[in-house]
Amino acid sequence: MKKKNPYYLMLAAAVAALGGLLFGFDTAVISGTIPFIQLYFNLNDISLGWTVSSLLAGCILGVLSAGKPGDVFGRKKTLMIAGALFFISAIGSALSTTHLVFIVFRVLGGFAVGIASMLSPMYISEISPASRRGQLVSLNQMAIVVGILLAFFSNYWLSDTGENNWRWMFAVMGMPAFLFLVALLFVPESPRWLVQKDRNADAFHVLERINGESIAKKELTDIRDSILSEKGTYKEVFSTRMRPVLWLGVLLAVFSQITGINSIMYYAPVIFQKTGIGTNSALFQTVTIGGVNFLFTLVAIAWVDKLGRKPLLIGGTIGMAISLTALTFAFYMQKFGGFIILTFILIYIASFAASLGPVTWVAISEIFPNKLRSKAMSVAIVSLWLTNFIVILTFPVILNRLGGGSAFLIFDIMCILLILFVFLKVPETKGKSLEELEKILIRSKHPAADPE
Ligand code: BGC
Repeated sequence: MKKKNPYYLMLAAAVAALGGLLFGFDTAVISGTIPFIQLYFNLNDISLGWTVSSLLAGCILGVLSAGKPGDVFGRKKTLMIAGALFFISAIGSALSTTHLVFIVFRVLGGFAVGIASMLSPMYISEISPASRRGQLVSLNQMAIVVGILLAFFSNYWLSDTGENNWRWMFAVMGMPAFLFLVALLFVPESPRWLVQKDRNADAFHVLERINGESIAKKELTDIRDSILSEKGTYKEVFSTRMRPVLWLGVLLAVFSQITGINSIMYYAPVIFQKTGIGTNSALFQTVTIGGVNFLFTLVAIAWVDKLGRKPLLIGGTIGMAISLTALTFAFYMQKFGGFIILTFILIYIASFAASLGPVTWVAISEIFPNKLRSKAMSVAIVSLWLTNFIVILTFPVILNRLGGGSAFLIFDIMCILLILFVFLKVPETKGKSLEELEKILIRSKHPAADPE
């Protein structure tokens, strides 16, 4: 008999969350390198746009490809593939001497981001006991935010290292990527995946070390029951029975992006310039936006399993809507006195960090049944990256053609729709095991499809 070990779970979740850190780092690192790569590769505005967004194209491919190896080789081995790709992409982008080679390595990095964005939260959700699942999956969001912050800091510190500065900015990601790859060797495979592969004894050992013997026995039976009720095909993912939960995942993913987080995070300097306070300093951005993002993710970690997902989502989105309303008025009326813009941008970031940011990942990783999880998650997460891509591409145009007021108004309307959606359609999922959720969200609504 293996003894319950509290550090075992924390360690496994923390290692998987390194995937989130690399996701955050790789998406943010490009911003500080733009002036240098533009000069080195001689890029015009259009080719620069492509260069920056090539990562997102890779992400979409990565998410679409991650489901199969995640099911066949396991969550852990597939995360190791992502680790290796992060490493190759970091060194490859750093050593590129032609634009084409650079783009190829960035797409490869995006591929790794796509895999990690899906498998890190999935793995954490699958190893966590119900009472701590929200908190541990939110750790992944915390790692994303830390990754973004680290990229901003490292870009800032490396900017004075001469003409190869941009190469160093990409190369440093090789270190956490290598660490991720090695650390994964020491974590267990997901017990839910092990049961799918009929490795019940192995699954039991993992569950026993996480939850103790008696809970592990019950969990194993519940997981086996749930596995028997699905085949695991895309046909099932899109079946009438799954449709409501699939919509739930997709809409949360889309709303998490269409309410403006990445426009505000990445275009903050442009927004500040429009108000006349030209704060271009990288350090200023890092400390304020990154710091607030980090601190308020801690709020989510502390409350997501106590208060629940729904109150956090509603409270946070109301905070986002209020700050966006204030920003809309400030821009329409051209009132930028004092620190109005900065204050409301920070309230917006804080509200997102404490709610929609982490809860989206928590929900997407827990609402789908065991056997369909990887396929259904990939549908939701591809929607997230596609929306991110469209918002990032259109935001500068909206900002310049229609102005900041209209841009914020659009995000504000989306927040109000999200509040209604959460209020009316999003179920509370705190404290229930993945198998209990499966019964409540899917099987109880379609008892005919239940083999029991
Ligand atoms: C979102 C990212 C965003 C980050 C900001 C994540 O949950 O998916 O798009 O950049 O939060 O903290």
